[in-house]
Amino acid sequence: MYRRKLPQRSGMEIFMIKAVYPGSFDPVTFGHLDIIRRSASIADQLIVGVLNNGQKKPLFSVEERVSMLRQVTAEFPNVKVASFSGLLIDFARELEATIIVRGLRAITDFEYELQMSQTNHIMEPGIDTVFLTTSLEYAYLSSSTVKEVALFGGDISHFVPQVVIDMMQNKLSNDQRRNCHE
Ligand code: PNS
Repeated sequence: MYRRKLPQRSGMEIFMIKAVYPGSFDPVTFGHLDIIRRSASIADQLIVGVLNNGQKKPLFSVEERVSMLRQVTAEFPNVKVASFSGLLIDFARELEATIIVRGLRAITDFEYELQMSQTNHIMEPGIDTVFLTTSLEYAYLSSSTVKEVALFGGDISHFVPQVVIDMMQNKLSNDQRRNCHE
């Protein structure tokens, strides 16, 4: 059911699994990258969907988040990055994906994730959410912790790739410059 049949070529039937990995990715962490790497080895094609939501006020713009994700996923040939606004399920439908991937860190994630996956499944029974448990070494990690550590000048190299460190330093020094002029 999760394998979608592709148009036939030379009489052969070709099936593929297309998955979406949605999130805010503000910023992308090694925990996200671990989920991307593992789900890209399960699905034929993985689309990382970056939420462009006017209600949340992210540190990085959607363009910056897409850009950092493209750089850190460049090594995976079957991974694409795109942004979306509105409902995740509509985005997944448009892509003709059959699977939504989410990472589960701890029991605290579970209630929200369960509610989200059940709501999405009611809206579109043809798309299921698959959970990957976060690798132990990243179980504690979250984008908000990374932002807090960076804000107070801490070392974030254990948590995020170099490209994110560079963008974070750039962003924080620009903000500090702006604050000086206010
Ligand atoms: O990285 P996050 O912030 O935990 O990701 C949450 C995300 C983007 C997956 C979720 O907020 C989402 O799907 N937002 C889109 C709006 C939507 O579809 N809401 C209904 C889900 S029940």
